[in-house]
Amino acid sequence: MRSEYKVSEPKGSINITDLGMVFKSRDVTNVALQTTNLSISPGEFVCILGPSGCGKSTLLNVIAGFLKASEGQALLDGELIQEPGPERSMVFQHHSLLPWKTVGENIEMGPRLTGDLEVEQTVSYFLDMVGLSAYRDHYPEQLSGGMQQRVGIARALATNPRVLLMDEPFGALDYQTRLVMQENLLSLWDEFKSTVVFITHDVDEAIFLSDRILVMSSAPGCIIRDIKNPLKRPRDQLISSDPIFIKLKRECLELIRAQSMTKLNIKADHQRPEIKP
Ligand SMILES: Nc1ncnc2c1ncn2[C@@H]1O[C@H](COP(=O)(O)OP(=O)(O)OP(=O)(O)O)[C@@H](O)[C@H]1O
Ligand SMILES: [Mg+2]
Repeated sequence: MRSEYKVSEPKGSINITDLGMVFKSRDVTNVALQTTNLSISPGEFVCILGPSGCGKSTLLNVIAGFLKASEGQALLDGELIQEPGPERSMVFQHHSLLPWKTVGENIEMGPRLTGDLEVEQTVSYFLDMVGLSAYRDHYPEQLSGGMQQRVGIARALATNPRVLLMDEPFGALDYQTRLVMQENLLSLWDEFKSTVVFITHDVDEAIFLSDRILVMSSAPGCIIRDIKNPLKRPRDQLISSDPIFIKLKRECLELIRAQSMTKLNIKADHQRPEIKP
């Protein structure tokens, strides 16, 4: 095992100040993100929950450097984020592996770009970490969805990023695979201690994984609640019966329900109208 990949000190602080995002096309102005302020400490695992279209991916894409904010700024370790960089890796809902390259070739692209002098060992190390050493010469289409996502995670980690950005990475997986992937991710994170910003629609997933949960309002989104997750680590799926888990789940579900009601223009205390004969 390559000891230099282990980092004793957490890394990757994110500071977002007065960030706003407006998409403008010829006739349409779409406010995707209201003024947002946020600080994430190095090594923190932060999950973002919120209704569809509230700006979760937009926020992540600004941190990744794929989008330039209309207002405000995002800093990584004190430096202004202006473009994508190898210190921030992204994992998407659907794998973005190159279909004409093998698993090994997909993983080695990042380390080659960053000038890694031991690309072979790097690829072996990360394939081993995600349990796919036997699939190095396979093509993505020869793997299951869960295996493809594991290759995506290995590829994202192979550049030794300070921040791992994950946009519903397990959203397309079946329930059982998803649980295994969550545990797998926590053990990888335990080793790397990179900062993780993880978007999900799944409240259980957010509670199981996070140190902190950010709940966003319906569109145009802003952060309406910043919830500290006091559950102890290491965790396994049995933690879902812990009273703290149940309390957190209720709090998140109530917030999300209220936001969904607002979005659908339904009052939370809506009563059926009395039907007169
Ligand atoms: N490139 C773009 N151009 C114009 N509008 C965009 C663009 N990207 C996102 N939007 C708009 O910004 C808003 C927020 O989109 P975003 O994808 O961030 O939402 P989301 O919270 O990630 O939703 P979901 O949970 O469905 O993935 C939406 O109204 C969307 O239509
Ligand atoms: Mg999204």
